[in-house]
Amino acid sequence: MQITSKTGALGLIGHPVAHSKSPDMMNRACEYLGLPFVYLAYDVDPAQLEQAVAGMKALKFRGFNVTIPHKVTIMNYLDELDDSAKEIGAVNTVVQNGEKWVGHNTDGVGYLRSLTEEIPIELSEQKVVMLGAGGAARAVGYALATAGVKRITIANRTKQKAEKLAHHLSKWTEIQVVDLAAADQEIAKATLLINTTSVGMEPKITETPIPTDWLHENLIVSDLIYHPKETALLCAAKKCGARVHNGMGMLVHQAAIAFEIWLGKKAPIQLMREVLESSLA
Ligand code: ATR
Repeated sequence: MQITSKTGALGLIGHPVAHSKSPDMMNRACEYLGLPFVYLAYDVDPAQLEQAVAGMKALKFRGFNVTIPHKVTIMNYLDELDDSAKEIGAVNTVVQNGEKWVGHNTDGVGYLRSLTEEIPIELSEQKVVMLGAGGAARAVGYALATAGVKRITIANRTKQKAEKLAHHLSKWTEIQVVDLAAADQEIAKATLLINTTSVGMEPKITETPIPTDWLHENLIVSDLIYHPKETALLCAAKKCGARVHNGMGMLVHQAAIAFEIWLGKKAPIQLMREVLESSLA
């Protein structure tokens, strides 16, 4: 697409950002729909976050994505937060609305859209066990708790963190906490097991967050990790007849929702998925 004096600006801020697949996905999506925008990745030092945000406002960026390590501190420099950002306590998407920067978090809804697109299920019927209690768990837990899931069991290496998250999510649904080492009994009764921990991610691809003999064929096993696409956990789940869902779709859908917030147009999901898959192949 030709860049002219009318081309609008979108972007990503993080530190580092060189590994990001977002510019490729977003620029291809804009080009496909003929939207006059460019999306660039900016490595912003944490000490200069405030100046970067002010600069983007002055330059009239339509919006931008936010990644590690700025997802929480960015909230200090925004004018408003939507409910998802407020409740998750982190922002991954910012949109300029009049004179205001408004923060959103599309990770949780992106996760849910991906899961239900790939495996059509009734959320209210699921017995959910969620492994982990970090940032990803906050987003996924919030999305599940507010989408009609009746009960979620959280198991995390550091139990205190699980209890803190459980307290927060219990505003919306019933939450219970179990020791990670004793999660087998809950997993035996579960229908949906979600790994939000980083265990199994490149380069330690043989690791699993729980012993694989806890898995069973009545489970849907969902792993937020997308690199590798099939973690050791998902591989073991497939072997025992469980249905599996990997983190690739969440990455695509969280980006697609951001695109829709900025540009008010339905994102070309299939194209974005192909761009992502080929860049990770
Ligand atoms: P993210 O934003 O990706 O969720 P995070 O907030 O650092 O990252 O959370 C990482 C999650 O993976 C946490 O639940 C962490 O457990 P702790 O709360 O005990 O730190 C979990 N995790 C990371 N390494 C782990 C390991 N080796 N075994 C079990 N859990 C692990």
